[in-house]
Amino acid sequence: MFKIGKIEIPDTPLLLAPMENMTEPSFRSLCKYYGADLMYTEFVASEALIRNIDKTFKKLKIFAEERPVGIQIYGHNIDSMVEAAKIAAEAKPELVDINYGCPVKKIAKRGAGAGMLQDIPKMVEMTSKIVKAVDLPVTVKTRLGWDYDSLVIEEVAERLQDVGIQALAIHGRTRNQFYKGKADWTLIGKVKNNPRIKIPIIGNGDIDSPQKAKQMIDQYGVDALMIGRATFGKPYLFKEIKHFLKTGEILPEMSVNEKVELAKLHFSKSLEWKGDKRGIFEMRQHFSNYFKSLYDFKKTRIRLVTCTDITEIYNILEEIKTNWGEK
Ligand SMILES: Cc1cc2nc3c(=O)[nH]c(=O)nc-3n(C[C@H](O)[C@H](O)[C@H](O)COP(=O)(O)O)c2cc1C
Repeated sequence: MFKIGKIEIPDTPLLLAPMENMTEPSFRSLCKYYGADLMYTEFVASEALIRNIDKTFKKLKIFAEERPVGIQIYGHNIDSMVEAAKIAAEAKPELVDINYGCPVKKIAKRGAGAGMLQDIPKMVEMTSKIVKAVDLPVTVKTRLGWDYDSLVIEEVAERLQDVGIQALAIHGRTRNQFYKGKADWTLIGKVKNNPRIKIPIIGNGDIDSPQKAKQMIDQYGVDALMIGRATFGKPYLFKEIKHFLKTGEILPEMSVNEKVELAKLHFSKSLEWKGDKRGIFEMRQHFSNYFKSLYDFKKTRIRLVTCTDITEIYNILEEIKTNWGEK
Protein backbone atom coordinates (compact mmCIF):
# COMPACT_ATOMS: atom_id res chain seq x y z
CA MET A 1 0.00 0.00 0.00
CA PHE A 2 1.33 3.43 -1.01
CA LYS A 3 0.63 5.87 1.80
CA ILE A 4 1.36 9.57 2.29
CA GLY A 5 -0.73 11.08 5.09
CA LYS A 6 -4.35 10.40 4.22
CA ILE A 7 -3.52 9.37 0.65
CA GLU A 8 -3.71 5.60 0.35
CA ILE A 9 -3.34 3.91 -3.01
CA PRO A 10 -3.36 0.10 -3.24
CA ASP A 11 -1.59 -0.53 -6.57
CA THR A 12 1.67 1.08 -7.71
CA PRO A 13 0.52 4.69 -8.19
CA LEU A 14 1.16 6.73 -11.30
CA LEU A 15 1.93 10.36 -10.58
CA LEU A 16 1.82 13.32 -12.93
CA ALA A 17 5.15 15.15 -12.52
CA PRO A 18 5.00 18.83 -11.62
CA MET A 19 5.75 20.87 -14.75
CA GLU A 20 5.85 24.62 -15.17
CA ASN A 21 3.00 26.01 -17.32
CA MET A 22 1.78 22.47 -17.89
CA THR A 23 0.36 20.92 -14.76
CA GLU A 24 -2.47 23.37 -14.23
CA PRO A 25 -6.15 22.50 -13.78
CA SER A 26 -6.99 22.12 -17.48
CA PHE A 27 -4.35 19.47 -18.15
CA ARG A 28 -4.64 17.93 -14.70
CA SER A 29 -8.36 17.29 -15.19
CA LEU A 30 -7.59 15.17 -18.26
CA CYS A 31 -4.77 13.27 -16.58
CA LYS A 32 -7.05 12.60 -13.64
CA TYR A 33 -9.77 11.31 -15.94
CA TYR A 34 -7.31 8.84 -17.46
CA GLY A 35 -6.10 7.58 -14.10
CA ALA A 36 -3.34 9.76 -12.62
CA ASP A 37 -3.32 8.87 -8.93
CA LEU A 38 -1.55 11.92 -7.54
CA MET A 39 -0.75 15.20 -9.23
CA TYR A 40 1.09 18.41 -8.40
CA THR A 41 0.85 22.06 -9.20
CA GLU A 42 3.75 23.47 -11.15
CA PHE A 43 6.46 24.84 -8.87
CA VAL A 44 5.47 28.02 -7.07
CA ALA A 45 8.07 30.64 -6.10
CA SER A 46 8.12 31.17 -2.34
CA GLU A 47 9.03 34.84 -2.67
CA ALA A 48 6.11 35.47 -5.02
CA LEU A 49 3.71 33.73 -2.65
CA ILE A 50 4.82 35.88 0.22
CA ARG A 51 4.49 39.02 -1.85
CA ASN A 52 0.92 38.00 -2.57
CA ILE A 53 1.23 38.13 -6.33
CA ASP A 54 -2.13 37.33 -7.96
CA LYS A 55 -0.70 35.31 -10.82
CA THR A 56 1.14 33.11 -8.33
CA PHE A 57 -1.90 32.61 -6.13
CA LYS A 58 -3.82 31.28 -9.09
CA LYS A 59 -1.34 28.41 -9.21
CA LEU A 60 -2.60 27.21 -5.83
CA LYS A 61 -6.13 26.56 -7.05
CA ILE A 62 -7.18 22.93 -6.71
CA PHE A 63 -10.59 21.63 -7.80
CA ALA A 64 -12.32 18.94 -5.76
CA GLU A 65 -12.37 16.42 -8.60
CA GLU A 66 -8.58 16.54 -9.13
CA ARG A 67 -7.61 15.51 -5.63
CA PRO A 68 -5.23 14.33 -4.32
CA VAL A 69 -2.98 17.22 -5.41
CA GLY A 70 0.27 18.48 -3.92
CA ILE A 71 1.44 22.08 -4.09
CA GLN A 72 5.11 22.37 -4.96
CA ILE A 73 7.18 25.30 -3.71
CA TYR A 74 10.76 26.40 -4.29
CA GLY A 75 13.12 29.05 -3.03
CA HIS A 76 16.53 29.58 -1.42
CA ASN A 77 15.62 31.47 1.73
CA ILE A 78 14.61 29.29 4.69
CA ASP A 79 12.27 31.80 6.34
CA SER A 80 10.55 32.58 3.05
CA MET A 81 10.13 28.88 2.29
CA VAL A 82 8.59 28.23 5.72
CA GLU A 83 6.22 31.16 5.21
CA ALA A 84 5.38 29.99 1.69
CA ALA A 85 4.69 26.45 2.94
CA LYS A 86 2.19 27.84 5.43
CA ILE A 87 0.47 29.88 2.72
CA ALA A 88 0.41 26.82 0.45
CA ALA A 89 -1.08 24.73 3.28
CA GLU A 90 -3.94 27.23 3.62
CA ALA A 91 -4.96 26.34 0.07
CA LYS A 92 -5.59 22.83 1.47
CA PRO A 93 -3.65 20.54 -0.85
CA GLU A 94 -3.14 16.94 0.26
CA LEU A 95 0.58 17.62 0.64
CA VAL A 96 3.28 20.24 0.28
CA ASP A 97 6.17 19.25 -1.96
CA ILE A 98 9.56 20.95 -1.96
CA ASN A 99 11.45 21.34 -5.21
CA TYR A 100 15.15 20.55 -4.82
CA GLY A 101 15.49 19.52 -8.45
CA CYS A 102 15.03 22.49 -10.76
CA PRO A 103 18.22 22.83 -12.86
CA VAL A 104 17.46 26.25 -14.41
CA LYS A 105 20.50 28.47 -13.99
CA LYS A 106 18.86 31.52 -12.47
CA ILE A 107 17.16 29.31 -9.87
CA ALA A 108 19.83 26.69 -9.12
CA LYS A 109 22.80 29.07 -9.07
CA ARG A 110 21.03 31.07 -6.41
CA GLY A 111 20.81 27.98 -4.27
CA ALA A 112 17.15 27.11 -4.89
CA GLY A 113 15.84 24.00 -6.68
CA ALA A 114 18.72 21.67 -7.53
CA GLY A 115 21.09 24.30 -6.12
CA MET A 116 20.19 22.95 -2.71
CA LEU A 117 22.02 19.71 -3.61
CA GLN A 118 25.22 21.70 -3.08
CA ASP A 119 24.32 22.58 0.48
CA ILE A 120 22.87 19.56 2.21
CA PRO A 121 22.94 21.01 5.75
CA LYS A 122 20.81 23.93 4.53
CA MET A 123 18.50 21.56 2.67
CA VAL A 124 18.02 19.51 5.83
CA GLU A 125 17.40 22.59 7.96
CA MET A 126 14.91 24.06 5.50
CA THR A 127 13.04 20.77 5.19
CA SER A 128 12.94 20.22 8.93
CA LYS A 129 11.52 23.69 9.54
CA ILE A 130 8.86 23.26 6.84
CA VAL A 131 7.85 19.86 8.24
CA LYS A 132 7.38 21.45 11.66
CA ALA A 133 5.54 24.49 10.30
CA VAL A 134 2.69 22.78 8.46
CA ASP A 135 0.08 20.22 9.46
CA LEU A 136 0.22 18.47 6.10
CA PRO A 137 2.59 15.79 4.85
CA VAL A 138 5.72 17.28 3.33
CA THR A 139 7.42 15.53 0.42
CA VAL A 140 10.49 16.32 -1.67
CA LYS A 141 11.37 16.02 -5.34
CA THR A 142 15.03 16.12 -6.29
CA ARG A 143 17.78 14.73 -8.52
CA LEU A 144 20.74 12.37 -8.07
CA GLY A 145 23.17 15.16 -7.25
CA TRP A 146 24.65 18.32 -8.72
CA ASP A 147 26.86 16.38 -11.15
CA TYR A 148 28.37 12.92 -11.53
CA ASP A 149 31.17 13.82 -9.10
CA SER A 150 28.66 14.52 -6.35
CA LEU A 151 25.97 11.86 -6.36
CA VAL A 152 24.51 12.67 -2.97
CA ILE A 153 21.04 11.20 -3.28
CA GLU A 154 21.60 8.29 -0.87
CA GLU A 155 22.70 10.62 1.90
CA VAL A 156 19.97 13.13 1.05
CA ALA A 157 17.26 10.43 1.22
CA GLU A 158 18.29 9.31 4.70
CA ARG A 159 18.70 12.79 6.10
CA LEU A 160 15.41 14.09 4.71
CA GLN A 161 13.59 11.02 5.97
CA ASP A 162 15.10 11.66 9.40
CA VAL A 163 13.63 15.17 9.52
CA GLY A 164 10.18 13.92 8.61
CA ILE A 165 9.44 14.00 4.89
CA GLN A 166 6.78 11.47 3.93
CA ALA A 167 7.91 10.57 0.40
CA LEU A 168 10.81 11.29 -1.91
CA ALA A 169 10.59 11.60 -5.70
CA ILE A 170 13.89 11.14 -7.49
CA HIS A 171 14.54 12.21 -11.08
CA GLY A 172 17.37 9.99 -12.30
CA ARG A 173 19.56 12.78 -13.62
CA THR A 174 22.04 15.20 -12.11
CA ARG A 175 21.52 18.96 -12.16
CA ASN A 176 24.23 19.37 -14.76
CA GLN A 177 22.50 16.95 -17.09
CA PHE A 178 19.38 19.12 -17.23
CA TYR A 179 17.22 16.87 -19.45
CA LYS A 180 20.04 15.46 -21.57
CA GLY A 181 21.12 11.85 -21.86
CA LYS A 182 19.20 9.00 -20.35
CA ALA A 183 17.81 8.95 -16.83
CA ASP A 184 19.85 6.59 -14.65
CA TRP A 185 17.62 4.61 -12.35
CA THR A 186 20.33 2.55 -10.63
CA LEU A 187 20.73 5.03 -7.78
CA ILE A 188 16.96 5.37 -7.44
CA GLY A 189 16.90 1.58 -6.97
CA LYS A 190 19.70 1.77 -4.42
CA VAL A 191 17.83 4.34 -2.36
CA LYS A 192 14.69 2.22 -2.53
CA ASN A 193 16.57 -0.89 -1.41
CA ASN A 194 18.38 0.82 1.45
CA PRO A 195 16.95 -0.95 4.53
CA ARG A 196 17.08 2.35 6.46
CA ILE A 197 14.61 3.94 4.05
CA LYS A 198 10.97 3.48 5.08
CA ILE A 199 9.25 6.31 3.18
CA PRO A 200 7.85 5.72 -0.33
CA ILE A 201 10.38 6.26 -3.10
CA ILE A 202 8.94 7.65 -6.32
CA GLY A 203 10.96 6.99 -9.47
CA ASN A 204 11.05 9.58 -12.24
CA GLY A 205 12.73 9.96 -15.59
CA ASP A 206 12.02 8.91 -19.18
CA ILE A 207 8.95 6.75 -18.63
CA ASP A 208 7.15 6.90 -21.95
CA SER A 209 5.37 3.58 -22.43
CA PRO A 210 3.56 0.86 -20.51
CA GLN A 211 6.49 -1.51 -21.03
CA LYS A 212 9.01 0.97 -19.69
CA ALA A 213 6.80 1.63 -16.67
CA LYS A 214 6.61 -2.07 -15.84
CA GLN A 215 10.33 -2.53 -16.37
CA MET A 216 11.14 0.25 -13.89
CA ILE A 217 8.84 -1.19 -11.25
CA ASP A 218 10.19 -4.73 -11.72
CA GLN A 219 13.84 -3.73 -11.92
CA TYR A 220 14.05 -1.07 -9.24
CA GLY A 221 11.14 -1.85 -6.92
CA VAL A 222 10.05 1.77 -6.58
CA ASP A 223 6.81 2.50 -4.74
CA ALA A 224 5.39 4.80 -7.41
CA LEU A 225 6.18 6.17 -10.84
CA MET A 226 6.15 9.83 -11.75
CA ILE A 227 5.65 10.71 -15.39
CA GLY A 228 6.29 14.04 -17.06
CA ARG A 229 6.98 14.81 -20.69
CA ALA A 230 5.46 11.66 -22.17
CA THR A 231 2.04 12.89 -21.04
CA PHE A 232 2.14 15.94 -23.34
CA GLY A 233 -0.64 15.36 -25.85
CA LYS A 234 -1.13 11.97 -24.26
CA PRO A 235 -2.96 12.24 -20.96
CA TYR A 236 -4.33 8.76 -21.67
CA LEU A 237 -0.84 7.32 -21.11
CA PHE A 238 -1.94 6.75 -17.50
CA LYS A 239 -4.76 4.52 -18.70
CA GLU A 240 -2.49 2.61 -21.08
CA ILE A 241 0.06 1.95 -18.34
CA LYS A 242 -2.55 0.91 -15.79
CA HIS A 243 -4.13 -1.51 -18.23
CA PHE A 244 -0.77 -3.04 -19.05
CA LEU A 245 0.27 -3.38 -15.41
CA LYS A 246 -3.03 -5.13 -14.65
CA THR A 247 -3.44 -7.37 -17.70
CA GLY A 248 -0.11 -7.47 -19.56
CA GLU A 249 -1.97 -6.28 -22.65
CA ILE A 250 -1.38 -3.16 -24.71
CA LEU A 251 -4.55 -1.18 -25.36
CA PRO A 252 -5.27 -0.39 -28.99
CA GLU A 253 -4.02 3.05 -30.08
CA MET A 254 -6.65 5.76 -29.68
CA SER A 255 -8.29 6.53 -33.06
CA VAL A 256 -7.54 9.79 -34.87
CA ASN A 257 -11.14 10.95 -34.44
CA GLU A 258 -10.95 10.33 -30.72
CA LYS A 259 -7.64 12.17 -30.51
CA VAL A 260 -9.14 15.17 -32.29
CA GLU A 261 -12.08 15.23 -29.88
CA LEU A 262 -9.72 14.98 -26.93
CA ALA A 263 -7.46 17.74 -28.30
CA LYS A 264 -10.54 19.96 -28.78
CA LEU A 265 -11.68 19.36 -25.23
CA HIS A 266 -8.16 20.02 -23.96
CA PHE A 267 -7.94 23.23 -26.00
CA SER A 268 -11.27 24.52 -24.69
CA LYS A 269 -10.21 23.86 -21.09
CA SER A 270 -6.86 25.53 -21.73
CA LEU A 271 -8.57 28.66 -23.10
CA GLU A 272 -10.96 28.72 -20.18
CA TRP A 273 -8.25 28.50 -17.54
CA LYS A 274 -5.45 30.51 -19.15
CA GLY A 275 -7.25 32.95 -21.42
CA ASP A 276 -6.77 33.17 -25.18
CA LYS A 277 -3.11 34.10 -25.49
CA ARG A 278 -1.54 31.65 -23.05
CA GLY A 279 -4.30 29.14 -23.72
CA ILE A 280 -3.25 28.97 -27.37
CA PHE A 281 0.49 29.22 -26.81
CA GLU A 282 0.71 26.54 -24.14
CA MET A 283 -1.37 24.07 -26.16
CA ARG A 284 1.19 23.95 -28.95
CA GLN A 285 3.41 21.32 -27.39
CA HIS A 286 0.35 19.20 -26.69
CA PHE A 287 -1.03 19.61 -30.22
CA SER A 288 2.28 18.46 -31.72
CA ASN A 289 2.25 15.38 -29.56
CA TYR A 290 -1.41 14.46 -30.03
CA PHE A 291 -0.81 13.99 -33.73
CA LYS A 292 2.85 13.10 -33.97
CA SER A 293 2.23 9.62 -35.32
CA LEU A 294 0.28 10.86 -38.37
CA TYR A 295 1.85 10.29 -41.76
CA ASP A 296 2.80 13.36 -43.80
CA PHE A 297 1.53 15.68 -41.06
CA LYS A 298 4.33 18.25 -41.09
CA LYS A 299 2.56 21.06 -42.98
CA THR A 300 -0.60 20.75 -40.94
CA ARG A 301 1.40 20.55 -37.73
CA ILE A 302 3.18 23.79 -38.53
CA ARG A 303 -0.13 25.52 -39.24
CA LEU A 304 -1.59 24.17 -36.02
CA VAL A 305 1.29 25.32 -33.83
CA THR A 306 1.70 28.76 -35.39
CA CYS A 307 -1.97 29.73 -35.69
CA THR A 308 -3.17 32.44 -33.29
CA ASP A 309 -6.87 32.39 -34.19
CA ILE A 310 -9.12 30.19 -32.08
CA THR A 311 -11.72 29.47 -34.77
CA GLU A 312 -9.02 28.61 -37.26
CA ILE A 313 -7.39 26.21 -34.79
CA TYR A 314 -10.71 24.39 -34.38
CA ASN A 315 -10.99 24.29 -38.19
CA ILE A 316 -7.55 22.73 -38.53
CA LEU A 317 -8.49 20.13 -35.93
CA GLU A 318 -11.61 19.28 -37.96
CA GLU A 319 -9.44 19.04 -41.07
CA ILE A 320 -7.30 16.44 -39.32
CA LYS A 321 -10.43 14.36 -38.90
CA THR A 322 -11.35 14.76 -42.55
CA ASN A 323 -7.88 13.97 -43.88
CA TRP A 324 -6.57 11.38 -41.44
CA GLY A 325 -9.58 10.28 -39.43
CA GLU A 326 -11.56 7.08 -39.65
CA LYS A 327 -14.53 7.38 -42.03
C1 LIG B 1 8.37 21.85 -19.29
C2 LIG B 1 8.84 21.24 -17.99
C3 LIG B 1 8.57 21.90 -16.81
C4 LIG B 1 8.99 21.35 -15.58
N1 LIG B 1 8.66 21.99 -14.43
C5 LIG B 1 8.94 21.39 -13.23
C6 LIG B 1 8.48 21.94 -12.01
O1 LIG B 1 7.79 22.97 -11.96
N2 LIG B 1 8.81 21.27 -10.86
C7 LIG B 1 9.54 20.11 -10.85
O2 LIG B 1 9.80 19.53 -9.80
N3 LIG B 1 9.99 19.58 -12.00
C8 LIG B 1 9.68 20.17 -13.19
N4 LIG B 1 10.06 19.56 -14.34
C9 LIG B 1 10.74 18.25 -14.30
C10 LIG B 1 9.71 17.11 -14.37
O3 LIG B 1 8.87 17.13 -13.24
C11 LIG B 1 10.40 15.73 -14.45
O4 LIG B 1 11.20 15.55 -13.32
C12 LIG B 1 11.28 15.59 -15.69
O5 LIG B 1 10.63 16.07 -16.84
C13 LIG B 1 11.69 14.13 -15.90
O6 LIG B 1 10.56 13.30 -16.06
P1 LIG B 1 10.08 12.80 -17.52
O7 LIG B 1 11.25 12.15 -18.18
O8 LIG B 1 8.97 11.83 -17.24
O9 LIG B 1 9.64 14.02 -18.27
C14 LIG B 1 9.70 20.12 -15.57
C15 LIG B 1 9.97 19.49 -16.78
C16 LIG B 1 9.56 20.02 -17.98
C17 LIG B 1 9.86 19.28 -19.25
